[in-house]
Amino acid sequence: IIMALGQDVPLSAVLLAVVPVLGISVSLIVKKMRPLFRTMQERLDTVNRVLREQITGNRVIRAFVRDGYEEKRFRGANTELTDVSVATGRLMALMFPTVMTVVNLSSVAVVWFGAHRIDSGGMQIGALTAFLAYLMQIVMAVMMATFMFMMVPRAEVCAERIEEVLGTESSVVPPVSPVTELRRHGHLEVRGAEFRYPGAEEPVLRTVDLVARPGETTAIIGSTGSGKSTLLGLVPRLFDVTDGEVLVDGEDVRTLDPVLLAKTVSLVPQKPYLFSGTVSTNLRYGNPDATDEELWHALEVAQAKGFVEGLEHGLEAPIAQGGTNVSGGQRQRLAIARTLVQRPEIYLFDDSFSALDYATDAALRAALARETAGATVVIVAQRVSTIRDADRILVLDEGRVVGSGTHHELMDGNETYREIVLSQLTEAEAA
Ligand SMILES: Nc1ncnc2c1ncn2[C@@H]1O[C@H](COP(=O)(O)OP(=O)(O)OP(=O)(O)O)[C@@H](O)[C@H]1O
Ligand SMILES: [Mg+2]
Repeated sequence: IIMALGQDVPLSAVLLAVVPVLGISVSLIVKKMRPLFRTMQERLDTVNRVLREQITGNRVIRAFVRDGYEEKRFRGANTELTDVSVATGRLMALMFPTVMTVVNLSSVAVVWFGAHRIDSGGMQIGALTAFLAYLMQIVMAVMMATFMFMMVPRAEVCAERIEEVLGTESSVVPPVSPVTELRRHGHLEVRGAEFRYPGAEEPVLRTVDLVARPGETTAIIGSTGSGKSTLLGLVPRLFDVTDGEVLVDGEDVRTLDPVLLAKTVSLVPQKPYLFSGTVSTNLRYGNPDATDEELWHALEVAQAKGFVEGLEHGLEAPIAQGGTNVSGGQRQRLAIARTLVQRPEIYLFDDSFSALDYATDAALRAALARETAGATVVIVAQRVSTIRDADRILVLDEGRVVGSGTHHELMDGNETYREIVLSQLTEAEAA
């Protein structure tokens, strides 16, 4: 603009008209585009979500022959995305002709008014050529600036979504000054624990008390959805109690150093997950320094030695993401072996024997009893045969402890337990 003014001041009045016209028309288009971009980003998200769900649930879709329905669902999401993309595409296409019209009209205006200026002797011919070149630069700069503003709405939407993830605070906060020393006996106590899932109206656990001592096996039984997995999850701090406390060796888990807690407590989750890699990388997950002998020993206890030996590369056999290339029962046993390799003081088994046949279940528990003799073991199970020999059985019902004692004590005095037992065993077997 300064250089154009240097060439001829009166002619520069054209700029006063050109720049605002260009700026206003482009920003009008951008203003229309902004909400469209936002919608586009959201719909792109929906397409991704639907597609991912369909890939993960592929087998279920095929089993229920819902291909047509899913295809329609995808088409719906995709059409919505296409519509909004086309709408933004149209506006974008409008942008270029608009800019070119303004540019060319302004060139005409410059030549027109410039010719009059030259005619009256107020301006040199060369100055007109120079002025036209400056005009192009100015107009291009305005156009580039507006294009950049066009990117802003998209970037804004993306940034908001990233911010949402980054800004999410974990509900499990590591302690500021953690306890780093424990006596490490493996004494586990849950005192008056209450837990409520975020947003839920009712607590899932109510005033649950549990004491599990080293050398003892504590079992938890209860109907589906009674809160067993939730109770176990409180110990390794997958989430924190909303009331009451969980103590490991007398220390509240919320004050413990997370690494120390992870060393002391090991959970075999109900849905065992293996990572992509090999059998050995999975087994060493909690204890990277374990030797091959230790791995084989753990596999033997977990009744998985035979099947790993049968794999082509043994310990180095590949495992797919999630452990999908081994059977459910094999995955469960590998997850148990992974915990055994870690050698914690407190073992938590969440329904870890459910996918095993009765003979393997019995053999595993016998081997496990020897292996974990001095440790604290908490077993969640649905099968009475799995837990009837436990030192103490806790009966959970709708998040409350409705009974605790040995199998025989509970058979005599606890109606809920009796019902569960008699649904699986005959009176004679139960006795
Ligand atoms: N992530 C979650 N968000 C909200 N509610 C949940 C969540 N997970 C579980 N629940 C609820 O908490 C209750 C207890 O679930 P939990 O998984 O602890 O049951 P469970 O006793 O382990 O059952 P199962 O024997 O089927 O494994 C259930 O009623 C369930 O609806
Ligand atoms: Mg469960």
